[in-house]
Amino acid sequence: VRRVRTHHLLEAKRRGERFTMLTSYDALTAAVFDAAGVDTLLVGDSAGNNVLGYPTTIPVTVDELLPLCRAVAGAAERALVVVDLPFGSYEASPEQAVGTAVRFLKEGGAHAVKLEGGAWFAPHVRAMTQAGVPVVGHLGFTPQSEHALGGYRVQGRGDAAQALVEDALALQEAGAFCVLMEMVPAETAAAVDAALEVPTIGIGAGAGTTGQVLVWQDMLGLRRGRMPRFVRQYADLHGVVTDAVGRYVADVREGRFPGPEHSF
Ligand code: KIV
Ligand code: NA
Repeated sequence: VRRVRTHHLLEAKRRGERFTMLTSYDALTAAVFDAAGVDTLLVGDSAGNNVLGYPTTIPVTVDELLPLCRAVAGAAERALVVVDLPFGSYEASPEQAVGTAVRFLKEGGAHAVKLEGGAWFAPHVRAMTQAGVPVVGHLGFTPQSEHALGGYRVQGRGDAAQALVEDALALQEAGAFCVLMEMVPAETAAAVDAALEVPTIGIGAGAGTTGQVLVWQDMLGLRRGRMPRFVRQYADLHGVVTDAVGRYVADVREGRFPGPEHSF
């Protein structure tokens, strides 16, 4: 199989094609999603919520995300593997961003990194790009800035739409090969995609972006609780697993497992 490269995503946009991204935090799901045709895997800092049990992505560290990244990159044969730069691991300076990004490529096996923020991080994006690290920018609702943004809310409404376009252009100008938008009005996201040469990826950003991304535990229904409006659930893994584990518990309690065929 041929590895998906950054230029393939650019070519997809030029041809008017769409591509997919899905989060993954471990080798087994990475292999399944890769074989199912997902083009890009995101080792998201949403691992904070979905793997490590934190209430937000804010506590996630580089040392926590690195082994997950290595697991995903080692298992993905085709997909381009993008990893999040955790909160606090890049903001201070372009040097800090390059240092962290290089670790994720060298030690984590990632092919690209993602950072949250706009034009003010253009120097960081430029430094990483020049160092040989492909960069994805993340605009709109940026979970690492939850406290500054005043909670989970749609960004880029009204007057903020033009600022979002300008941030996206600044990231592209600095060398970002892709811009991801989270919880942005469909119209704004489509305007950003139209203004950029590089492809865009959306989550809660409508159908006008080049690609789409979802968190796998949301789209496969493993996580219970309030689902964001932008999630479509393609399976009910919570139900499947609850039923299967319940039958295992009952079988053991009632002596139906193990059977002779499982015994030596
Ligand atoms: O960490 C993550 O899963 C993300 C996506 C929601 C884009 O950043
Ligand atoms: Na993230």
